[in-house]
Amino acid sequence: MKYEEIMRGIDQRIAEGKLKPGSKLPSIRSLSQELSCSRNTVIKAYDQLEKKHLIYAVPKSGYYIVDSYLSRKGNPKANKKIDFLSAGPDKQAMPFRDYQHCINQAIDLYKEDMFSYSEIQGLYSLRVQLSKQLQDLQVFTPPERICVVTGSQQALHLLASLPFPNGKTNICLEQPTHSGFIESIQHQKAVAFGIERNSRGIDLQYLEEIFKHHDIKCFYTVSRFHNPTGHSYTNVEKKKIVELAQKYDVYIIEDDYMGDLDTNLKQDPMYAYNPSGRVIYTKSFSKVMLPGLRLGLAVIPEPMIKSFLQAKYAADLHTPVLTQGALEIYLKSGMFHAHIQKMRTMYTNKGMVLQEAFKTYLRPSSYSCSLSGFYSTIELPKQLKATKLIERLKLEDVYVDRTNHMYLPDYKKENIIRLSVSQVEVESINIGVKKIAEGISRLLKERR
Ligand SMILES: Cc1ncc(COP(=O)(O)O)c(C=O)c1O
Repeated sequence: MKYEEIMRGIDQRIAEGKLKPGSKLPSIRSLSQELSCSRNTVIKAYDQLEKKHLIYAVPKSGYYIVDSYLSRKGNPKANKKIDFLSAGPDKQAMPFRDYQHCINQAIDLYKEDMFSYSEIQGLYSLRVQLSKQLQDLQVFTPPERICVVTGSQQALHLLASLPFPNGKTNICLEQPTHSGFIESIQHQKAVAFGIERNSRGIDLQYLEEIFKHHDIKCFYTVSRFHNPTGHSYTNVEKKKIVELAQKYDVYIIEDDYMGDLDTNLKQDPMYAYNPSGRVIYTKSFSKVMLPGLRLGLAVIPEPMIKSFLQAKYAADLHTPVLTQGALEIYLKSGMFHAHIQKMRTMYTNKGMVLQEAFKTYLRPSSYSCSLSGFYSTIELPKQLKATKLIERLKLEDVYVDRTNHMYLPDYKKENIIRLSVSQVEVESINIGVKKIAEGISRLLKERR
């Protein structure tokens, strides 16, 4: 007997309902005895089926049929990839043509400026537009305090290394948090103290203890649509954090990378509670526009502007004039405003579908998410490791992210996964979450 015949035989048993998707296949020994063939032939057949992602092996247990066996065989489209892993903006919604038009105009407008180095702080005319646009987010600042940066990550990286007017040395940050900031801290060997952030926020009393006892120069916080949990602070919490920062002379780096997506216009940034300089505000254009543009901004307190610009100069002299010019035209023409409205509707819709799916398939306290749906996390039962689930979900063509790199080494958790709905079609969200929930319960069963 050939291995192809064994594969066909298995296919037939599944089609006739004699073997069920999700169930265990006969052991290699028993099938070789039943079919009077060598064990190697059965091994080869199982190997081929595994390569096609139709079955999977569980060490010390045997081979199992994937849940989606029938749909994969009959209709490969029915099982298309569900990508909760990629966190770039939704490609369908990106304003490529509009931006192309703005870039062309910027070349005409700024061709002279491109023959020499430009302002370290960014084009003044762009900063005027940014100052106007920031008012929509309750951030009131003159253009003189705005620094255009090469992606908001640059501002975060520079701030992590700079001395602060309070003369203190250590950094406090939420755990988990944006992995780029963790990288900066580790690269600069900064001393950092973590505070857990989950679907309920943070423990403000503990934050006060850290501020009081650990010589904290700044607290890095993602005030809304936190990466990775998706959590946003209430206005009351934001106010309280700013008060604590004032009381203990701590600066706040408020990373409002996705503030544009907030549909609740009553939500204030922390900056609004202390615009005089205690709160350093950073904003990205990567999630609502194109990450490849590398455009962001920081609103820097006056006493720090000089040192910030020196550091910026040392890093890259200035952000490219062409992309700055294009953003200026994009803002001025009203295209940005119209685009943001579209993005808000799209992400809110995805966020609502995701919340419903979480409610339907997961334990209530095991997930965190936001209305934008951009990021969310699922906490697996303690005995399960995220990596194990991630590998298993790949067999189902469902992709999610680990969160290990979003923690400082002393705070690491191995049982949290991150999802982003940014690149997932609305109709696939429910199917994807269901598969994740099934994957979790199957792994739990196997452990028992
Ligand atoms: C919370 C957070 N802040 C900042 C950034 C960096 O954004 P930018 O592309 O503007 O550097 C990211 C990127 O994913 C992020 O998740």
